[in-house]
Amino acid sequence: MPSQHVIIQTRSKKDEVDGVLREEREGSLTAPASSQQQKQEQQYTFSFLKPEAVKQRLVGEVVSRFERKGFTIRELRLHRMTRSEAERLYYVHKGKPFYEELVSHVTSGPVVLMIVAGPSPVETVRKLIGGTNPLTAEPGTIRGDFSTSITANVVHASDTSENARKEASIFFPPDALR
Ligand code: CMP
Repeated sequence: MPSQHVIIQTRSKKDEVDGVLREEREGSLTAPASSQQQKQEQQYTFSFLKPEAVKQRLVGEVVSRFERKGFTIRELRLHRMTRSEAERLYYVHKGKPFYEELVSHVTSGPVVLMIVAGPSPVETVRKLIGGTNPLTAEPGTIRGDFSTSITANVVHASDTSENARKEASIFFPPDALR
């Protein structure tokens, strides 16, 4: 069967060429897949667990929910937030009725700071944590499941990529954000 053998070889060569052409068309040869993946992985958000989450031993639960969804924890650190850091973090709320209580709460005990990486991290992490007020946050979300207090609402996550960069830079060196 030499002729059949030749046909099979010819077909597989053709498939190979088609594959290369397809990859070229889709850009995976001109821009290597690894650099495209890196671009996606470079998306991150900033999040931190508030003092009550540490006290109530919810750190593992929250980190686990982020990981189970498919996010990667790029940075994780137990930290005692200073008043000046809290003021920088929450400067947009300065002057609001809840501001003093909020700053005093997040500086009242250790928090857990995180940089979380993955696809659409800002939007998706905010969906996972739920609405600001735990009383109206959907059950199944972190705030919906673990809190009834708007100030002690377990976890914060940045609301835009720009704020994620700003907020993360209060606590992490620039090389942690690359
Ligand atoms: P956080 O995601 O950390 O961002 C700002 C925080 O302000 C918010 O979660 C709440 O804990 C707190 N906060 C307290 N009262 C209010 C309010 N009425 N509206 C919005 N945020 C509030």
